[in-house]
Amino acid sequence: MSGNVLTAEWAPKISNFSYQHIGVDQVAGAIGASIRGVDIADDPTDEIIAEIRQALDDHLVIFFRDQDITPLQQLAFAKRFGNVIEYPLVQGLEECPQVAPVVKLADERVNFGGLWHADTTYLDEPPMGAILLAKELPPFGGDTIFANQQLAYETLSDGMKNILDNLTVIQSSKKAAVTRTREDRLKTGAIGGNSDEGLVAEHPAVIRHPRTGRKSLFINSGHTVRFKEMTEDESAPILDYLYQHQVRPEFTYRFTWQVGSIAFWDNFSCQHNPVNDYHNYKRVMHRVTIGGGRPKR
Ligand code: SIN
Repeated sequence: MSGNVLTAEWAPKISNFSYQHIGVDQVAGAIGASIRGVDIADDPTDEIIAEIRQALDDHLVIFFRDQDITPLQQLAFAKRFGNVIEYPLVQGLEECPQVAPVVKLADERVNFGGLWHADTTYLDEPPMGAILLAKELPPFGGDTIFANQQLAYETLSDGMKNILDNLTVIQSSKKAAVTRTREDRLKTGAIGGNSDEGLVAEHPAVIRHPRTGRKSLFINSGHTVRFKEMTEDESAPILDYLYQHQVRPEFTYRFTWQVGSIAFWDNFSCQHNPVNDYHNYKRVMHRVTIGGGRPKR
């Protein structure tokens, strides 16, 4: 990236909310907090759920440790935050279809969703979030990196912000790189949406968080094809710049899983990238996806 030193002074926007029911420890300068004092199996009270939502709105991805929960308990927890939607391409667990297994087997070489992306932004109503639980992990590796897309927007120049504020992006499920990351899973558990055309949606390039009103860059290299107002060739140089800018190390946090860890991310305000560095070992995660409605400018 040319001129790649980030000289702008920046800080994530975090409220000074005073938590009464949970502990919230920020884990990095830009994004992420670790939540203490919550036992998800114990059906948290409405007050606890409200504070978890506050922590998510402030930190964009929140982490829980040592949650020994069943798929039904994970589903019940997710439903406290919105309507649960099924992942459009992969079959859910037989006993609980709204919980999708995210698996890499020991003999596979590509991990599911193994590149920077926000989830399924090719849907008209992409998810507002996802809750991912670690069930079986390799002895090393398999971390997931998260990047703050509010900061990615805020640290752009006013000129670039003004241009992007008025643009629309075309998002597709069929970009070659992301399609490759799904192939192993689709061999066994594919459902709808795998036609040649795939799924395509239009969204504002910059969206506002439905609760906080904070703006995020809603572009991701996994699914964004072009600006609606431009050709692919015209869009490419701007998008390539943004793909690099939006995952600057300063905007990220890398989470190391343990069995029973949960990451709950805001899909409108961050991107994630699961690191594929554990060949010959199996990794099994359970994911529940929460609906978000149409993102708005
Ligand atoms: C995903 O993109 O849903 C998977 C993330 C992960 O495996 O860490």
